[in-house]
Parts: sequence; C-alpha cells; structure tokens
Amino acid sequence: MTRVTDAPSPGACRICGGVVEEFLDLGRQPLSDRFLEPDESGEEFFYRLAVVQCRACTMVQLAEEVPRHLMFHADYPYHSSGSSVMREHFAGVAQSFLATELTGADPFIVEMGCNDGIMLGAIQEAGVRHLGFEPSAGVAGVARSKGVRVRTDFFEEATAREVRAAEGPADVIYTANTMCHIPYLDSVLRGADALLGPNGVFVFEDPYLGDIVTKTSFDQIYDEHFYLFSAGSVQAMADRFGFELVDVERLPVHGGEVRYTLARRGVRTPTPAVARLFAEERDQKLTCLATLRAFAANVWKIREDLVALLERLRAEGHRVVGYGATAKSATVTNFCGIGPELVSFVCDTTPDKQNRLTPGRHIPVRSAAAFSDPYPDYALLFAWNHAEEIMAKEQEFQQSGGRWIRYVPQVHVT
Ligand code: SAM
Ligand code: TMP
Ligand code: ZN
Repeated sequence: MTRVTDAPSPGACRICGGVVEEFLDLGRQPLSDRFLEPDESGEEFFYRLAVVQCRACTMVQLAEEVPRHLMFHADYPYHSSGSSVMREHFAGVAQSFLATELTGADPFIVEMGCNDGIMLGAIQEAGVRHLGFEPSAGVAGVARSKGVRVRTDFFEEATAREVRAAEGPADVIYTANTMCHIPYLDSVLRGADALLGPNGVFVFEDPYLGDIVTKTSFDQIYDEHFYLFSAGSVQAMADRFGFELVDVERLPVHGGEVRYTLARRGVRTPTPAVARLFAEERDQKLTCLATLRAFAANVWKIREDLVALLERLRAEGHRVVGYGATAKSATVTNFCGIGPELVSFVCDTTPDKQNRLTPGRHIPVRSAAAFSDPYPDYALLFAWNHAEEIMAKEQEFQQSGGRWIRYVPQVHVT
C-alpha cells in the first residue's frame, strides 16, 4: 500500500469552518484496524495523527482526515459482538427504544454502523421495521445472517434521502461509536433532517471528551475517531442543522461515553441532565485550550513512564504480552515506539486479527488461548475499557503470579 495524500487537511473546523488550534501531535500513525498478513510486502499507509480544537464552536477533531474507504471495507475486522458487556448494553438499548420511541402504529428505526447486528438483532426479533447502514461488507453479512435488514452503504445525505423516499420517515435514527468516525457530519445531519419524522429523535453515543481528558485516555484518538465530542460542541453542531440537544446520559462503556439525543429544534423540552452537563463542562473548563494542553502534557508523561517500565522489564528478563489488539492500541504502540522487542505478542479473541501483525509496529497477534500457554510475567492491558469482563475471566493469570500493566489514567502495575 502506498501513502495516500489526497485527503484534505482541514486547516479549518470541519463543522463550522472556524479557525482551529492544534494541541496534541501523536505522530506518524498507520490505519488502526489494518492488521497485516505476516508475509505482506509493500508500503503501509501512514498519516499524521494530530488533534485540533475549533476556537469558534469548540469541536475537538483530527487535523488530518483518512479516506473512509481505507478504513471501512469488506475486511473491517471489528465485530461488536465480541464483548458480552456490549451485547448486554445493546440489548438494553433495543429494549428501551421498543418501550419508548417505537410504540406507534408502524414504527421505523434506522441504525448507522449496525456492524454485526448487535443492536438491530433484538429489534428484528421484536418484528419492528428497521434498516441498518453498514458499509463494511464483512460485518454487514454477519448482521444479515441474523435476519437484520442491512444496506451495505455509508449513511450520508444522498443515501438517507433515498430511504426517506422509499420507506417514509424514521422515528429513530440511532448510532453508536460511529458518529465520531465521520468527518462529513454536515452531510449526515442533512440526511437525518431529511429522513427523520417531525417528532423523531437522532440518538448517538460516542467516547466523551470529558472522560478522555479526566482519564488521559489518549488511545481513544486514532484515525477512526475523527471527533471527540462534548455536550457543548454537540449542541453547537446540532444548532447549525436545526436540531437541539434534548437529553444526555453518561455511559460507562468503552471507557466513558455520552449518549446524545437530538430532536428538531423546539419540539421536545430538554431534560435537566443537559443543563447539568453543560455546567459540569464549564466548571471543568473542559473546552478551554489550557485544559487540552494540560491533557497533552499528561499524554507525554504516560509515554515516558510506559516506555521506561517496559524497557526495565525487558532488561530484567521478564516476558510481557499485550491483551486485546484494539484499534486504540495502534496509537499507544506507534506513539510510544513499542514493538515485538518489548511486547512479544498481543492476544485477541477476534479471528480476523489473529495470526496477523499489528499496524505500524508489527507485533504478532495470537489467539486468546495463547495467553495461558504459558502465562506471561506481565500483561499490558490494551483493552482496558473491557477490564471488568477480562479480569473476571483471567483470574487464574493473577493467581499464578501474573501482573497487569495499565496506562490509564497513569502507568501502574496491579
Ligand atoms: N455500532 C457498533 C458498535 O457500537 O459496536 C459498531 C461500531 S464500529 C466502531 C463503527 C462502524 O461504523 C463500522 O462498522 C463502520 O463500517 C461503520 N461506518 C463508518 N462510517 C459509516 C457511515 N457513514 N454510515 C454507516 N456506518 C458507517
Ligand atoms: P474495543 O476496545 O474497540 O472494543 O476492542 C476490543 C478488542 O479486544 C477486540 O479486538 C476484541 C478484544 N478482546 C479480547 O481479546 N478479549 C476480551 O475478553 C474482550 C472483551 C475483547
Ligand atoms: Zn467549529
């Protein structure tokens, strides 16, 4: 693969065109979900991963955009149903929509980024009219095998208009961990405007800037995570397209997210939770550049501490493996310069990642079974957002003397 440089470097806010200020440069990075075949030759795609903030609307976003077809394609390896916690989470989301927004005569829900049908599966079982948009054909096929109706396509203005013309207005447009992946949100919001019924809601949940700053979870920043949302920046964006932020909910999943509910301006009364989160963000000075610069300094401190720890462990002859070949770990390994000499392999439950090499640093990926065969001295927890689930099933590792290395919110060994 050769480097593609035709993506426009914004230089201006992707939402409002305002002036942007850079506060963190995580260097040259590969595609975070592009796991290489061991014998693959040719050049890998790299881009500069830097984060900027818009002075006008406060939106935090990447400085460089990676073309979408390089990230979301037939071989996109992320299967949402790989985590039992997430399966439960999305079953709950489906039940909640079925009990509230989808109780009319012939309700209709559209999901952007339905992946393997983790949420729409339950909607389909309830016999409710639905459509998933999923451009990554591999995972879309898995959803289809569950009986979910899927269009293998990107949601954007043109495709949303087609659905509206063919199937009528939607009561709910829902999307999880996908809105923040989409630089062209102007097109998505115009599409939502065209597709949503007059009293419909547009609900999305994504990693929350407040959690990222508080936990210094800088590994939430990678090619696919183009935006880091806050309530303030989402409200400013919604307003530009005739929507209003009418509800927010903090979620514990994926290291801390917020579920935002948008409705057409003036149609629904915002819940008190919206004003509360605005106030919290003001008190935390969340979108002040000084806060973001302090966050960047913490990121550099984690890099220094993590590299020093791994180098010491290597010098002492300890064996360290990684746990979870997450997209997030691409940022950590490439920013910190961690390769197979420091972490001998990474274990992961995803078949599409196994027996391949991690992006950029080329650490071998092995199956989950390899973890205990034999246990390493230390495990670097890349999938820290699934810590509870992983700790529950890996008790034997710790009982046999193994130690976990974590780097969020700072480097520590447990
Ligand atoms: N919603 C699932 C979840 O929360 O686990 C999947 C999240 S996955 C990180 C992001 C998904 O969004 C991918 O499956 C990708 O193919 C899809 N995607 C990216 N751009 C999209 C777009 N414009 N419309 C619909 N889906 C999109
Ligand atoms: P995520 O942080 O984007 O959800 O990715 C989690 C990755 O970690 C995914 O590749 C699956 C992997 N994983 C495991 O290997 N074992 C586990 O127990 C869990 C929950 C995830
Ligand atoms: Zn802006």
